[in-house]
Amino acid sequence: MTAFDHTAVDTLRFTMSQAAFIGIDVGTSSIKVVAVDPGGKLLAVASSPMTVTVERPGWSEQQPEEWWAGTCTAIQQVLAEIDSPEMLGVGLSGQMHSLVALDSAQAVVRPAILWNDVRTSAEAAYVRETVGNESLRRLAGNPALEGFTVTKLLWMKTNEPELFERVSHMLLAKDYIRFRLTGELGTDPSDASATLLFDIVNSRWSDEMCKLLDIDSGLLPPVIESAEVAGGVTKTASGETGLAEGVSVVGGGADNACAAVGAGVVSSGDALFSVGTSGTVVAPTDSPVTDPGMRIHSMRHAIPSTWYLMGVVLSAGAALDWWRRSSGGIGFNELVAEAGAVEAGSGGVTFLPYLTGERTPHADANARGVFFGMHGGTERAHMTRAVMEGVSFALRDSLELMTELDVHPSEAVAVGGGASSGMWLQMLSDVVDLPLRTVGPSEGAPLGAAMLAAVGAGRFGSVVDAGTAWLTGLDSVGPDASVRGTYDDAYGRYRVLYPALREMFAARFT
Ligand code: XUL
Repeated sequence: MTAFDHTAVDTLRFTMSQAAFIGIDVGTSSIKVVAVDPGGKLLAVASSPMTVTVERPGWSEQQPEEWWAGTCTAIQQVLAEIDSPEMLGVGLSGQMHSLVALDSAQAVVRPAILWNDVRTSAEAAYVRETVGNESLRRLAGNPALEGFTVTKLLWMKTNEPELFERVSHMLLAKDYIRFRLTGELGTDPSDASATLLFDIVNSRWSDEMCKLLDIDSGLLPPVIESAEVAGGVTKTASGETGLAEGVSVVGGGADNACAAVGAGVVSSGDALFSVGTSGTVVAPTDSPVTDPGMRIHSMRHAIPSTWYLMGVVLSAGAALDWWRRSSGGIGFNELVAEAGAVEAGSGGVTFLPYLTGERTPHADANARGVFFGMHGGTERAHMTRAVMEGVSFALRDSLELMTELDVHPSEAVAVGGGASSGMWLQMLSDVVDLPLRTVGPSEGAPLGAAMLAAVGAGRFGSVVDAGTAWLTGLDSVGPDASVRGTYDDAYGRYRVLYPALREMFAARFT
């Protein structure tokens, strides 16, 4: 046969074409993109590093245009790794709280003011005084802390009135990427929860919060569910990313919500312990739960009719990294192995991990790190172990608050760098007295975003089904009853230190 056989080539192309869902996470240190096939196999991962600009102490900003450039590059890299890619849908996840302000022409007005920017203490105090804690709890379900988006808007209003006058739309980080992909403005309930302008109970913007704080509710974008299709990739975005025009993009979710989805932590009774640079404890609930003491965050989950409580430990892996650097740059493995040879309780040494202040349960920007209880026989190994125990105790603090609110996880998934150390995983299980498991693929928030895309595209009926199909249990550990008493005593020592030092932190750092 001399004639060219087109059918054979088409068949070959068909078999080689790899269908995939794309998950994008707009993180603070990088933009991460994953491609996952419909069966849950991870096909490709790429990331673009991001920089944070610190113009003044306590400030933290990024350029939305850099997020977009990084997203385009990472998507192109992922597509290049896949044979004849056929994209089935795109999901988004992103840093919570960070304010993107757009003018009436939908152009960015100023750099994004990030979640970890603490210039807004006066505005947070103003929200507390104007709304009052009881109304804050009823209307928004969350405390007025510097991180929450509304304080950033109020800061602009007072300090940059000309720029504030120009603001016509407010978005969160991942919403800006969805806007660039589809041309549609919108956010989802899990990210809206982090603004303090969202009624988490009824899943809608709170007109009352807007009125009390004199914020024009017209600035707020439409809210669509996380697995709902928000729009299709535009021709321009197709040219910039390589994604085919028209591919569906879903609402997506906050990074902590997507990390929970990506670990299968989607229903009441389960919890997620994340030990990355910062640490979080996320516990889903099937009805909204808020804290009368306003010490813990309450958010809508990225799943309809589901909420979650969240505690945030600002320095988790960051505390161990700081200690490693301060210990002459010894390698992690060596440092952790040394600590593993020391008994639970760290020879009486206690560490408070508040290197950059704390969110849960103390919400104190003035708090700082503390080592307590050293003696002549204390060695580096005790100090290292105390750092790891201190971070675990900080996570237990969040779990204890949840228990006080009648939320009782019976098992949990651990993710992040901390969970990859068998020693730390066991320690955390012992300290929080819960069985902990790890799951794969361990891509966290971007994987959760891809799952939301798969649900949005109709591949799965629900996020729960997506998790069942895509996730595999890797490892699991249970609490060792023989060290429970030792850890309870050490936790007791840990608990009394902060109240004893609160006034000193305030005097030293204000
Ligand atoms: C949560 C929070 C952080 C960011 C990090 O309230 O501020 O975990 O979401 O991206």
